[in-house]
Amino acid sequence: MKAKKTFKPCDLVIYGAMGDLSKRKLLISLYRLENANFIEPDTRIIGVDLHDIKSSGFIELAHKSLQEFLSDGIDSKVWERFSARLSYLKIDLTQPDQYLQLNAVIDQQSRVMINYFAVSPFLFKSICQGLDKSEILTENSRMVMEKPIGHNLKSSIEINDEVAKVFTEKQVYRIDHYLGKETVLNLLALRFANSIFTTNWNHSTIDHIQITVAEEVGIEGRWDYFDKTGQLRDMLQNHLLQILTFIAMEPPVDLEADSIQNEKIKVLKALRPITSNNVEEKTVRGQYSAGYIKGVAVPGYLEEDGANTESTTESFVALRVDIDNWRWAGVPFYLRTGKRLTGKRTEIVVYFKQLPHNIFKDSFRELPPNKLIIHLQPNEGVEIEMLNKIPGIDEHIKLQKTKLDLSFSDTFKKSRIFGGYEKLVLEAMRGNPTLFLSREEIEQAWTWVDSIQDAWHHYKDTPKPYSAGSWGPVASVALIARDGRAWEE
Ligand code: BG6
Repeated sequence: MKAKKTFKPCDLVIYGAMGDLSKRKLLISLYRLENANFIEPDTRIIGVDLHDIKSSGFIELAHKSLQEFLSDGIDSKVWERFSARLSYLKIDLTQPDQYLQLNAVIDQQSRVMINYFAVSPFLFKSICQGLDKSEILTENSRMVMEKPIGHNLKSSIEINDEVAKVFTEKQVYRIDHYLGKETVLNLLALRFANSIFTTNWNHSTIDHIQITVAEEVGIEGRWDYFDKTGQLRDMLQNHLLQILTFIAMEPPVDLEADSIQNEKIKVLKALRPITSNNVEEKTVRGQYSAGYIKGVAVPGYLEEDGANTESTTESFVALRVDIDNWRWAGVPFYLRTGKRLTGKRTEIVVYFKQLPHNIFKDSFRELPPNKLIIHLQPNEGVEIEMLNKIPGIDEHIKLQKTKLDLSFSDTFKKSRIFGGYEKLVLEAMRGNPTLFLSREEIEQAWTWVDSIQDAWHHYKDTPKPYSAGSWGPVASVALIARDGRAWEE
């Protein structure tokens, strides 16, 4: 079957092919792309890991992963095509000599080599050294890596320096899977293709903006990783700050990677630092205790498998963020994200300013402000909350809050919403860097987040408890209430 788009076929090498990321996300996304005929017929997928198995073992693992994680079932014809692309090489990733084996497999003449680092960052250095030693890389090769790119500025510089020894910045594709989400991309369209928003997107019309990334899941058996990381580094340093930059950036001159990245960097540079002088008033940390999610009892953070019962790692964070530039002067952004909250909900709410005078006092003592609500997931869509006259011939005009509701699933019935990984893996294969992060963005984000982490450390701040299944600690309500506002719930 013919692939829908043509670009050079690839040899996609997945380092850490037997690991969680590969099983849960990459193989599933690649299969889905196969199903949608987006993979070039000659593209191959080469799994690399320490396990002593043959290609048949890797194919078996891929099949099992699809059975476990693919919600819509395996199509035998698609599987036949997909499995024919898969092969496996046993390499101890810490042994640079062993990478020479790749030379016998990779075909640089007719394919682009894509190196997907689906491993913990402590292995990045040895993979880079191995690739260097095997002399297999060409200027066309690419590498894909994803968070965590370090756990602070210093460690991210170290990782980026190692990678830079063998790959140029143009060859590096840093993934934040939120940038592959349909609704995050739609922010560009919403803001820069609709004059109604383009002209009203600043401090004169907007009162404040809320970004909520609420998760229902807990730490999903990842105690070791999560406890060293915490919600600030796991979710806010990357996903929430990326959403923030898309909302706050100036119009880029075009959709090229450099143009977009440069505008995002300007936003990150304009974030007002949170330091020990203002951390208490601008941040809230929380940690879940036992509770109920959809009626089912779930353990608290400190009772999770493998937990250290003394841990003070946060599973919730709420912040007031100020952007010190012309457009956003005086417009606070309230960000919150947490695990084990009431439900899975990612949304942006833009609150417009109240009108200066109310001539509809029969309906509202104070006119409620317009709201633009962007549902990123689930139920992707955009809503505008506005006031409308209730139809009728009463003596007095009566108003009611109403919603203009654009649900993606109702409006675009024929289009499937692709997952973030599908989109980004495909873009890496196409060689389109637009949706990936530059080194400077990552380092700028760490600079800002490190300051918060240091301030918490300075105060020896312990997280506030909240029950699993709630909206987080009461202190997060107080954080926004101090400014006379409330979270959208
Ligand atoms: C990952 C985090 O980056 O994003 C996880 O490490 C988190 O802790 C996940 O659960 C959330 O992604 P999504 O796409 O389900 O919102």
